[in-house]
Formats: sequence, C-alpha cells, structure tokens
Amino acid sequence: MTDAADLIRKTAGDAPVSLGLILGSGLGALGEELENAHAFPFEDLPGFPVSGVSGHAGRLVVGELEGVRVALLSGRAHYYEKGDAAVMRPALETLKALGAPALLLTNAAGSLDEQMPPGSLMALTDHINYSGLNPLIGEETDARFTNMVDAYSPDLRARLLDAAHGLGQPLAEGVYMWFSGPSFETPAEIRAARILGADAVGMSTVPECILARFLGLEVAAVSVITNLGAGMTGAPLSHDETKSEAAAAQQKFRALVRRFVGSFK
Ligand code: HPA
Repeated sequence: MTDAADLIRKTAGDAPVSLGLILGSGLGALGEELENAHAFPFEDLPGFPVSGVSGHAGRLVVGELEGVRVALLSGRAHYYEKGDAAVMRPALETLKALGAPALLLTNAAGSLDEQMPPGSLMALTDHINYSGLNPLIGEETDARFTNMVDAYSPDLRARLLDAAHGLGQPLAEGVYMWFSGPSFETPAEIRAARILGADAVGMSTVPECILARFLGLEVAAVSVITNLGAGMTGAPLSHDETKSEAAAAQQKFRALVRRFVGSFK
C-alpha cells in the first residue's frame, strides 16, 4: 500500500477499482464525468508529480464511469519535464494499490501515415523505445527484466476494437514510437521512425507502459492523432495544434473510452 493509496482510501472508500486510466494532453475532460467522485490534486498525494505549467500537474479522481469503479489520472508528468523516466512510478503503484488490474493509457500523438490523419484514434499494438531511457534503470530486483511481448494486451485491444465497432467509429491500430521531447521531431527523425516501423510518435506512454508491466498491470493504450509528423506537410508543428486537435477529437475519444470502460461491468 502506498501512502497516497492510504490517503485516497480514507476518503474514497476501500472498494477496489476495476480499471485505472491516464488521460493525456487535451483529453482530461472525462475526469469531470465520473459519478460519486472523489478528487485528489497531485500535490496532495505523496510521491505524485508536482510540476506542470501552473504548478497543477493534475488530479486523481476515484469514481464511477458507466457504472464501473475507476481511478483516473487527469494529467500526467512527462520525462521531458525533469528528466526522470520513472516520474510516474508512484502514481502507477498507487493505481495498483487501489486494486486496478488493468490500465488504459491515452495520449496525443503525431501520425506517420497519411491514411491516419488528425482526428483519428489509434489503439497501440506495440511500441519502439530507442530513447536510451528506461524507467526501470536503477531498479535492483530481477523484476527489472520485464517481458515486453504483448505489453499492450491483445485482450484489452480486442475490447477497444469491439467498443469502436459498437459505436460505428473507426479505430486504427499501430506502433507508437517514444521521443523524449520536448522539442518535436525533425523531418529526418520522422522518416527514420517510418522506416523503423512506427505508425505514430509521441512523448509519453512508453515509460508508463514499462512501469505498468513491471507492476503486473494489463495495459491498453489509445493515441489521439493531432497532426501528421514533422515534415509530412508544409506546416510547422505546435503544442497549440496538439491541444486544439485533441479537443476536437474529444467527442469520439470520450465515447470510445466510456464504452471500453463499460465492458468491465
Ligand atoms: N510528435 C511528438 N509528440 C506529439 C506529436 C508529434 O508530432 N503530436 C502530439 N504529440
């Protein structure tokens, strides 16, 4: 039990959650939709990241979505903020301590495929981590040699695809490549990523997936495509575009996540 989990259970109750969720850039609105919700700002939770643009990195909310008890992180910390790939470890340990057997990770990402334009949703099938970074560096137990085959659970991915199908929404599938950021990729890096087999690029999720697998959590992940990769159009990339395109895709994203969560009832 982490100190944060202790504190959360004192207010939100002991009933285990069925799922943990991490909402990425511009995707946090779902956090307002939980019923019987108890919210905890990260700054009140021991070990949680306290950075973030305005000093509010985010909040953890425990409550019900589609009748399923979940713990949701609205906001996350990224490697590029402090240079710590394990920055989310206490938060993930807390989700596990709250009883979550599985985790849905979400992010905003750049697409390497013109057939998957901004506004598309992509279920991750796998990832590429050529960053040289790993959140388990320094971990001293043999558990550090974490298996990463089927890191993104085929069962959970099938649930995501079912949910999309039920909604009549397309859901792409693909490989996500992690770049540390915070600068965007160069056009040459994007060309290299395509050759290496990536379908999308982004600055989060990979260290969280590694930590979650290390902790024994099942993982599903969805990217909201906010732009084509650097150099694929004439336009420069910007964080404003990431935020506004993520907001534009909220409707589809929320519907998918709700239906996926509902499958845990
Ligand atoms: N690159 C990296 N991260 C991103 C991008 C991108 O093109 N779009 C949204 N997040």
